[in-house]
Amino acid sequence: MNVLVTGGCGFIGSNLVKYLRKQRPQWKIVNFDKLTYAGNLENLKDLEGDAQHVFVKGDVNNREHVEHVLRQHGIEAVMHLAAESHVDRSILGPEAFTVTNVLGTQVLLEASRAVGLKRFLMVSTDEVYGSLGPTGAFTEESPLQPSSPYSASKTAADLLALAYAHTFGLDVVVTRCSNNYGRYQFPEKLIPLMVVNCLHDKPLPVYGDGAQIRDWLHVEDHCSALLLALERGKKGQTYNIGGGAERKNIDIVKGILKRTGKPETLIKYVQDRPGHDRRYAIDPTKTKRELGWAPAHTFEQGLDDTVTWYLENRTWWERVTSGAYRQYFDSQYKQRLSSAA
Ligand code: NAD
Ligand code: TYD
Repeated sequence: MNVLVTGGCGFIGSNLVKYLRKQRPQWKIVNFDKLTYAGNLENLKDLEGDAQHVFVKGDVNNREHVEHVLRQHGIEAVMHLAAESHVDRSILGPEAFTVTNVLGTQVLLEASRAVGLKRFLMVSTDEVYGSLGPTGAFTEESPLQPSSPYSASKTAADLLALAYAHTFGLDVVVTRCSNNYGRYQFPEKLIPLMVVNCLHDKPLPVYGDGAQIRDWLHVEDHCSALLLALERGKKGQTYNIGGGAERKNIDIVKGILKRTGKPETLIKYVQDRPGHDRRYAIDPTKTKRELGWAPAHTFEQGLDDTVTWYLENRTWWERVTSGAYRQYFDSQYKQRLSSAA
């Protein structure tokens, strides 16, 4: 099969491309990525010389190019991951989120329809459901109540994909997963940011009281679910993917301090994120039952491996966080630390 992975040079995308190459060696994987600050070919160094992996630099908003690539490579399935993915950035500059996540998805859906694509996998997020109180978990039937510009843009894309299945008969499957962690995650998200700051002995900015809860999923468990959803998912259906690992942010931060041997005095409580979702928790029962999926990683082991990987791959994170990104990050970081909680 010939598969187009969009956003294949980002965190989840690069892990997915490598996972697919291992699990389905006969497939051709075309990796379509704009290479924004979050996309790095460096993430795919292991695949150098692999003729079954084709990288195409491109923007999902460019209809002509997208359609050309679909036709040129005889693409049968699309796994759509390309997105602006960070909530904090969506608060600072929401426009790019609407352009890439909403309009870009629309372009891909239209192009897919035009070429008669066999399957379109829309990689969505649990953030479409909004925030939970202290109990309960999101099911596929939970109402969609996104609260950040990021999650609103993902909800629009998620629903557009389902509308294309309903209205035009496009074979769409949607997955909604919880917070991922693992190798090659850009150090702006909680776990890699805290690891990198620890290694620089820099303060660790914890938003608000740090008691917000996320339900963590190892990126390789996400990849295994995506392959199952692609192959076994039913047209027009959505599937929740969650690792069953609810943790408070502050406990994650303390766990990272412990693993890097740094003192808790590095913790700095800063002003809360505007509109901060309090708790996410995913009920993946349907995905387990219908797709036969089960996560293979425990959170504690997964976090050990992830911290070790960042310790051993300093060149990677130093390189991807240099240049323009560095300037953006330093200004945001200073601003956050100057606003004590
Ligand atoms: P990421 O930010 O690490 O990577 C995004 C990739 O998309 C980058 O390689 C970037 O260059 C590419 N990209 C951005 N705009 C593009 C455009 N216009 N055209 C082509 N490529 C473009 O993101 P990630 O964390 O790997 O997330 C991947 C997907 O999974 C996203 O759709 C995200 O919403 C979803 N998701 C992520 C998480 C998570 O915890 N990271 C959780 C749930 C869902
Ligand atoms: P993040 O990794 O940005 O993912 P998301 O916002 O999509 O859940 O953040 C995870 C949690 O960690 C979230 O509750 C915000 C919090 N957080 C901090 O407390 N400090 C930070 O510096 C960052 C980046 C996040």
